Amino acid sequence: MSKKAYPPKLAGRRKIYIRTFGCQMNEHDSLRVKELLLGNGYDLVDKEENADVLLFNTCSVRKSAEDRVFGVVSSLKGLKIKHPEIIFGIMGCMDEAQGKDIFEHMKHVDFLCGPGDLDKIPEIIDKVRRGARHLVYIGGHRSKRIPRFSENRDIVESLYVKIMEGCDNFCSYCVVPYLRGRERSRPSKEILEEIRHLLSKGVKKITLLGQNVNSYGSGLKENITFPEFLRKIDKVAAGKAEVTFVTSHPKDASLELFKAIRDCKSLSKQLHLPLQSGSDKILKRMNRGYTLARYKRLLKSFRRIVKNGPIVSDFIVGFPGETKKDFNDTLKSVKNIRFASAYIFKYSERPFTKASKFKDNVSKKEKERRHTLLLETQRRISRRKKCQ
Ligand code: SAH
Ligand code: SF4
Ligand code: F3S
Repeated sequence: MSKKAYPPKLAGRRKIYIRTFGCQMNEHDSLRVKELLLGNGYDLVDKEENADVLLFNTCSVRKSAEDRVFGVVSSLKGLKIKHPEIIFGIMGCMDEAQGKDIFEHMKHVDFLCGPGDLDKIPEIIDKVRRGARHLVYIGGHRSKRIPRFSENRDIVESLYVKIMEGCDNFCSYCVVPYLRGRERSRPSKEILEEIRHLLSKGVKKITLLGQNVNSYGSGLKENITFPEFLRKIDKVAAGKAEVTFVTSHPKDASLELFKAIRDCKSLSKQLHLPLQSGSDKILKRMNRGYTLARYKRLLKSFRRIVKNGPIVSDFIVGFPGETKKDFNDTLKSVKNIRFASAYIFKYSERPFTKASKFKDNVSKKEKERRHTLLLETQRRISRRKKCQ
């Protein structure tokens, strides 16, 4: 095939391919970028080789997430060599974590665009088309603005609504606050308008997104807490759709929240409340702001108020300084609490974080062992729970 014949043009329209790595926040952001580009004369394609713009929305939460991006994007280098007119863009969290170092590893990438700058994507692509290379757009999260979807958003049965972004918790292992910026909430009126619109279009499941939804409202001019906001949402969504939310931080979870979950017909009764470790020493080093005893008290209240609501947790094994005894405390808490399910991760050292200065004294092999053991223990519990 000659260079000119590739990629196949469709009546002057341009073809875009987007692959998303990472969390629901990134899935949400990719949908928004798709919306922007569809409104700017692009068609979506689902194969890399049919696209003339390839975008990768990336994650940096663990090193393995970054390695996956490097692997996938590097494996497509051949396309760029054959057809230099193809545009490669890296979007999302990895841009904030790595900055222009990304170009050193992947010279064929044309631009970087962090999570706070995604509205500029059409303009950036135009610049690259006119010959610009190695453009860097990062740091946009400092503007505090959270962009909203247009009324023409592509409607499917289940959709995300971003209610807040950023995080002020600075858990010592976590890079997210450095990538998504300080915590900021969208005004409740604007979100309710968006939800009403989605419901009028027949959306049946809405997931409210935030790095730390329990502190929704702080920093807004209006005086509103997350449980109060959930009750407002329920007034418009009850009987029409199911509403869920991620993620809750135990430090800010309250009885008011549990009562709202109990009372609101539209709200899913499942609670994602990451414990991270069953050892108080490690929780302190993680800067989580609660003890195991306080977490257990919270769960007891949740189970009393919400009754059968399933509880889902996250865990990190092999955090610096985690002894066998600390790990056994985690294992014990998983056996005692009996979560419906849990996401279990091996600690990964991340740039900018406080824990990156701690001595990582748990060997790779031992992290592997703890990971497998906790995973298997939780799997057995999840299977039995499903049968109950
Ligand atoms: N804002 C959410 C999600 C954070 S990232 C929350 O606070 O719950 C999702 C999960 O990834 C975290 O809950 C944690 O278990 C895990 N994680 C974050 N940083 C990590 C790291 N450096 N190494 C391993 N796991 C990590
Ligand atoms: Fe990261 Fe902690 Fe914020 Fe979650 S609450 S995003 S784990 S710093
Ligand atoms: Fe999400 Fe990964 Fe960014 S977990 S917030 S895409 S670092």
